[in-house]
Amino acid sequence: MNVLIAYATNSGGTYFAAQTVKKVLEAKKFSVTTAEVEDLSPHDFKKYDLIILGSCSWNYKDLEGQLPKSFEEFVKNTPANSLQNKKCAVFGLGDSEYLYFCGAVGILEKYIQKNGGTPITDSLRIDGYYKHEKENNEKLEKWVHSLPL
Ligand SMILES: Cc1cc2nc3c(=O)[nH]c(=O)nc-3n(C[C@H](O)[C@H](O)[C@H](O)COP(=O)(O)O)c2cc1C
Repeated sequence: MNVLIAYATNSGGTYFAAQTVKKVLEAKKFSVTTAEVEDLSPHDFKKYDLIILGSCSWNYKDLEGQLPKSFEEFVKNTPANSLQNKKCAVFGLGDSEYLYFCGAVGILEKYIQKNGGTPITDSLRIDGYYKHEKENNEKLEKWVHSLPL
């Protein structure tokens, strides 16, 4: 199975989280590509069986709990049904001190639904990645192990 981890990050945490997800999947012998959404086109989805979307939550146009700009634009430029027949999963990094904790996760769940993807698990919301890096990486590992693959 070919897996794509498509992510957006502003301060690097989601990059490191994506590496953790990749490491666990590779240990299970999956072929895994990680890429920032700004280096991807939604047409790239065609090459993969499982698409894992990862994002921080941010302020965008003065609204909290949003995708960062790069993911916002990627979503906007996605042709209809780009996730048809694709297994999908979402993880998000956020901070529970914000009103819309991990708001980007809900946006990505709707994106998957709208584009015909099939969610295979509940989304994972990570609180304060850098503050509790070890525990948060363990949460990510546990989540990946729980994926029905
Ligand atoms: C300007 C700004 C806005 C943020 N807005 C939110 C938010 O609305 N909801 C949330 O859960 N976290 C919010 N966060 C926290 C980040 O999502 C969190 O620190 C995350 O780990 C950053 O991931 P990254 O290192 O991949 O960019 C915000 C952080 C900053 C600096």
